[in-house]
Amino acid sequence: MSVTFLANPAQLRDWRAALPPAATIGFVPTMGYLHTGHASLVRRAAAECDLAIASIFVNPSQFDRADDLAAYPRDLDRDRALLEAAGCRAVFVPEAADIYRPGHQTWVVPGDIASPLEGASRPGHFRGVATVVLKLFNLVQPTRAYFGQKDAQQVAVIRTMVRDLDVPVEIVPCPTVREPDGLAMSSRNSYLTPTERAAAPVVYRALEAARTAFEAGEREAETLRAIMRDVVATEPLARLDYASIADAFTLAELHGTELQRAEPDRAEPDRAESGAVASIAVFLGHARLIDNLLLPAPTASAVPARH
Ligand code: PAJ
Repeated sequence: MSVTFLANPAQLRDWRAALPPAATIGFVPTMGYLHTGHASLVRRAAAECDLAIASIFVNPSQFDRADDLAAYPRDLDRDRALLEAAGCRAVFVPEAADIYRPGHQTWVVPGDIASPLEGASRPGHFRGVATVVLKLFNLVQPTRAYFGQKDAQQVAVIRTMVRDLDVPVEIVPCPTVREPDGLAMSSRNSYLTPTERAAAPVVYRALEAARTAFEAGEREAETLRAIMRDVVATEPLARLDYASIADAFTLAELHGTELQRAEPDRAEPDRAESGAVASIAVFLGHARLIDNLLLPAPTASAVPARH
């Protein structure tokens, strides 16, 4: 079945109105230049819902640099083929003028959860993300929306927005899809030269080193950060932006041995899903790569869920 192309909100509305009212809709918002990571979200949406819909919109308001926005890679024909193969029924591809009409002045401003990490390195980024995601939710009206754990802070910001603003959608975080050498798939990997690409697995190696130390009993957060920094320092092409050990839900940086709390505690059901997230951002040539791992590693349920 081919993917229905919805070029503007009016076409989306008509398509949406023609669906059976009880149909469950799985939604995957993207910025295009799709890869196997995006496809995994679409496949899961198609498997868990009556139908899957994706959006492709390179959202200007979440870019803090005009050159980054202008350079963002695009390939709509390839994206449509990938979506079709993944079982997607429709793709919404609005123009910027459809989403930000003249006089647009209302924004979703996330709180503390958006301040550290990506929020600190990219001012205004999560205001742009939260605003466009809420607008897309209002337009698509999905039952569930699928997000990659690769962007762990994005998942946390969206979950918090949905809870705080009573948005009627279920957020489903999905595991990070990696290349065989560990590099997390990303549209931005296309910025890497062959030499930089060969150096890029250092990002995941740093996270793995922290996880190995954690599994061997290391609970001092600063030691784990230092382990990540040291691994990145072994790669001359890489420049560290941040290495973080934070609470997986609040994203507040952990200090000293606060990481003890990352141990699931059966006696304290409220903390049974607790965990920390090791995350890292690294500049490599023109690319800025981000990645993260949960500590302890997720077991059967893949990713902790808290509402
Ligand atoms: P984009 O970077 O295109 O990513 C779209 C979705 O795919 C996000 O939920 C992201 O976490 C997920 N994703 C990316 N790489 C992945 C990988 N290797 N494994 C699993 N999932 C992966 O994130 C955005 O777009 C935008 O901020 C958006 C939410 C669309 C708002 O503009």
